[in-house]
Amino acid sequence: MSQLFPRTANLLARLSVYGIFIVAALGMVALLIYSRSPYPAFAQKSPTQPVPFSHALHVSLKIDCQYCHADARRSTFAGVPSVKRCMGCHQIVASKDAELQKEVEKLRTFAKESRPVERVRLHKLAGFVYFPHKRHVQTGLACQQCHGEVQTMTEVAQVAPLTMGWCVSCHAERKGPLECVVCHH
Ligand code: HEC
Ligand code: HEC
Ligand code: HEC
Ligand code: HEC
Ligand code: HEC
Repeated sequence: MSQLFPRTANLLARLSVYGIFIVAALGMVALLIYSRSPYPAFAQKSPTQPVPFSHALHVSLKIDCQYCHADARRSTFAGVPSVKRCMGCHQIVASKDAELQKEVEKLRTFAKESRPVERVRLHKLAGFVYFPHKRHVQTGLACQQCHGEVQTMTEVAQVAPLTMGWCVSCHAERKGPLECVVCHH
């Protein structure tokens, strides 16, 4: 059976079969990138939260991003800090501004009642996409590379489109993986 065709013909036949898959896959990527690319002009405003939180103010106190988002370097999700972590300061720290102090009081009420602040999540990929923070943080990418200048935002906003084209173009540039199953499994 295997002698019916010379070896080289067999190889050629195989290559052309793989070729069809490769062309199809590349076509798909091109199409997706093309169809999903309102790329640079993207920005999504923050939803209204139960307690406001200014990144600009808190990061200016020289608190590191990973003091609050401590899971970013070791797990899939970056995580948002618990009220307990806020109370490390706000047990004592109050605001001179009466309006802001009301917000701090709200926070203390959550803490006293051991209730979590149920924040509305902003960044959210579809369930069929796998995005691990740890790999990206450990490889040395700054948070700002994907989240913009968060340290200047009073209300955190989403600045990247989080489309497949966005992921793939950085992977192409920085030698990240491009196989479909790496992100879809
Ligand atoms: C003192 C704690 C604290 C620090 C420091 C902090 N964050 Fe946050 N971060 C939060 C809280 C609380 C939220 C929840 C968002 C809200 O309610 O507005 C949040 C939300 C976010 C979000 C949006 C999450 C979502 O819903 O999609 C991003 C992105 C983010 N932070 C990035 C950063 C970056 C980058 C830094 C450093 C420049 C940083 N954070 C520093 C507490 C902190
Ligand atoms: C390292 C200490 C520290 C931590 C941790 C901290 N804060 Fe603050 N926070 C401050 C200081 C200092 C101010 C400014 C007080 C003033 O107005 O003079 C402030 C102000 C605020 C205010 C009023 C101003 C505003 O941004 O609206 C709120 C609300 C607030 N913090 C919420 C939080 C929440 C929620 C967390 C936890 C995710 C948190 N803080 C964690 C130190 C901290
Ligand atoms: C390579 C791009 C990239 C980098 C670098 C990155 N993020 Fe993210 N971040 C994302 C994406 C994509 C999502 C949405 C993830 C999802 O929905 O599964 C996200 C979601 C978040 C969220 C909300 C959901 C969650 O995971 O809890 C927070 C908070 C956050 N990032 C903080 C950070 C911080 C802090 C850093 C730096 C230590 C950082 N990110 C670095 C791309 C990035
Ligand atoms: C700013 C550049 C950048 C962006 C944007 C980015 N990545 Fe990555 N990603 C990388 C790099 C670089 C690596 C390789 C890291 C390494 O090898 O240590 C990587 C690796 C990965 C891995 C492999 C992790 C593992 O455990 O093998 C997955 C999965 C991944 N990225 C998913 C995504 C998804 C999904 C998005 C979009 C939502 C995305 N990435 C956006 C740079 C990026
Ligand atoms: C680096 C990560 C990454 C790689 C590699 C990747 N994808 Fe995706 N893909 C995504 C993200 C993120 C989305 C979600 C886009 C959105 O919601 O806009 C997506 C969405 C999709 C969708 C749904 C499109 C839609 O309209 O919502 C299909 C189909 C898809 N990808 C197929 C593929 C195929 C086939 C490959 C391999 C050729 C591939 N992907 C490789 C990250 C990736």
